[in-house]
Amino acid sequence: MGQSLLELTEKLMQEIGIPSQPRLLIELNKELSKEEPNFSIISDLVSRDVGMSAKIIKVCNSPFFGLRQRVDSINRALSILGLKNFKNVVLASALADNINSSSIGSKDFEYFCNHSLFIARIAQAIANRLPFEIKRQVDPDHAYMAGLFHDSAIPLLIKKHKDYFVKIADALKSNVSMVSVEEEAYHTNHCLAAYFVAKSWGLPENVCIAIMNHHQTDLVAVEDLGARRLLAVLILAESIIYYKDNNMTYIFDIFNYNIGEGNYGKIQFELDLTNDDISDMEDSVAEILDGVQP
Ligand SMILES: [Fe+2]
Ligand SMILES: [Fe+2]
Repeated sequence: MGQSLLELTEKLMQEIGIPSQPRLLIELNKELSKEEPNFSIISDLVSRDVGMSAKIIKVCNSPFFGLRQRVDSINRALSILGLKNFKNVVLASALADNINSSSIGSKDFEYFCNHSLFIARIAQAIANRLPFEIKRQVDPDHAYMAGLFHDSAIPLLIKKHKDYFVKIADALKSNVSMVSVEEEAYHTNHCLAAYFVAKSWGLPENVCIAIMNHHQTDLVAVEDLGARRLLAVLILAESIIYYKDNNMTYIFDIFNYNIGEGNYGKIQFELDLTNDDISDMEDSVAEILDGVQP
């Protein structure tokens, strides 16, 4: 019997070498899981890694966080952001650091990272605005992680397959599904591949499942209710960006996708959102977009 796409992807990822979770994050998570995490231990831990500290400060000062005060030290970042957001920034910086490679141009990579940060922030904002009953099953922090990691395998696939970028861009320009091209050409897709990245970084199972299915429009394919609702949030974040960001001028813009009217309904149903709720969310997304675009 032939191997499944998941098995083939697992093999491919072993070949590519999944970037492993940095020590710093493991130690940070250990401290954060304590009942009363110690700020100065966390600050010392992160400050010891000078390169990472510089990246964290840069991410904090980027328009994605819309901070009014300038961050110039890890201590300051911690006190302004609070523990949870600080951890999310460390996660974003560490992930970018580990999936970057010389196979991808710096401008393309920056754009890619911005897309992930955008989706992370928007998914988090959507999760925060969900109706009470639904919100209990969708942790905004998990929504952030799902957004951050959902496309994380793309740079790895570009590194492995030199023609990946051109092939996918061509497919998307002619409205062909990215996943079907990936499966035909490389016997994998970036959702399955990102699932293995997320797993090896110890992300919660529902986050890994949402990532694995993020180009799936048939939500019921995901049995677990929490994972399915998280997936609905992630897909909603990507489609809101698709509808709102009309200046699709750059190649990674087309990695956002149109889920279609019918499927929008399924997402609304899954998250118990009215049309008014959706337009409120679209307005908040527009605000985030306005803050980020020059
Ligand atoms: Fe994707
Ligand atoms: Fe995406």
